[in-house]
Amino acid sequence: MATTFIDLIQAPLADAFNRPITYLRVSVTDKCNLRCVYCMPEEGLQWLRREDVLRYEEIVEIVRAAAAVGVRTIRLTGGEPLVRRDLDRLVRSIAAVPGIDDIALSTNALLLEEQIPALVDAGLTRVNISLDTLRPDRFEAISRRPGLDRVLRGIDAAIAAGLGPVKLNCVVMRGQNDDELADFAAMTKERAIYVRFIEVMPVHENLGLQAETYVSSEEILERVATIGSIAPVPGPPGNGPARYFAFDGAPGAVGVISPLSHDYCERCNRVRLTADGRLRLCLFGDQHVDLRTPVRAGATTEDLAAMLRSAMFIKPERHHLKLGEASSQMRAFSEIGG
Ligand code: 5AD
Ligand code: SF4
Repeated sequence: MATTFIDLIQAPLADAFNRPITYLRVSVTDKCNLRCVYCMPEEGLQWLRREDVLRYEEIVEIVRAAAAVGVRTIRLTGGEPLVRRDLDRLVRSIAAVPGIDDIALSTNALLLEEQIPALVDAGLTRVNISLDTLRPDRFEAISRRPGLDRVLRGIDAAIAAGLGPVKLNCVVMRGQNDDELADFAAMTKERAIYVRFIEVMPVHENLGLQAETYVSSEEILERVATIGSIAPVPGPPGNGPARYFAFDGAPGAVGVISPLSHDYCERCNRVRLTADGRLRLCLFGDQHVDLRTPVRAGATTEDLAAMLRSAMFIKPERHHLKLGEASSQMRAFSEIGG
């Protein structure tokens, strides 16, 4: 039998601390149609120049190399990935890469309802939706733009398109939305929705806010437990860093993601590709490798795979961030492909 591309894998990618790296997050744009207070300033960021952003064909070349060294899941992120034109074209090309069996999307869902049929047809398998509040006025205060109704329709459309159970990501901020923990948690009793509460992470744009509004996941869990008794559950299929808990008999579950207060790094299985083609090895660290230059210079899949392998040596064991600090290079969350 002919040697297939997959046979070329010698050993799946693992970092210097023996963590298998099977998950690649791909930021397709730094732009966004919201301005969430914890993520970017009202006026937006200094956007990347068009020519500095990887073209879809270039992303697919890098995905092909990643798949050849054992990456199985691709998550498309931004900014807001759905603001990039014809995202379904990218999904279709990634779905055709041998070895990739899972293509997920992280979105604020403003544009999801209209795009979901084409995305699912192209091979999208999962979706995570950001939603920090269930109240329209607060939605506008937190994301500085209206659109809660569109997000809610996007959630329904994703479930209707067969992408359930849907994961919701809710960034918890003291004094802004922490009184809605019960309302979010209640959704998991009714529907197969996984609500993940996320601690605010520090980026340069939000240090003041982060220090003022930070709520630890331990506190979040304690508060959820006052609503009803919860027990640990495995959670939905996927590769997330969340820990899940469910109310008795509930179809969904509540999860917490604690990049700061808990040992998030131990189970790290991922690296990130920024919209301008840098492979970032750690969410909070500055370690990165430029892949855009080689991919534009015609590097082969094997060349790129070798670069991915050697990049593993600079993946740090953990971050050392504390409350109120941000890494020196880290600007908005969107820049690193949240
Ligand atoms: N802290 C925590 N979560 C953040 N997100 C964006 N910026 C931050 C931050 N500073 C979340 C979004 C979305 C996911 C992609 O990351 O709300 O749910
Ligand atoms: Fe956009 Fe997501 Fe940042 Fe909000 S958190 S501004 S939706 S990229």
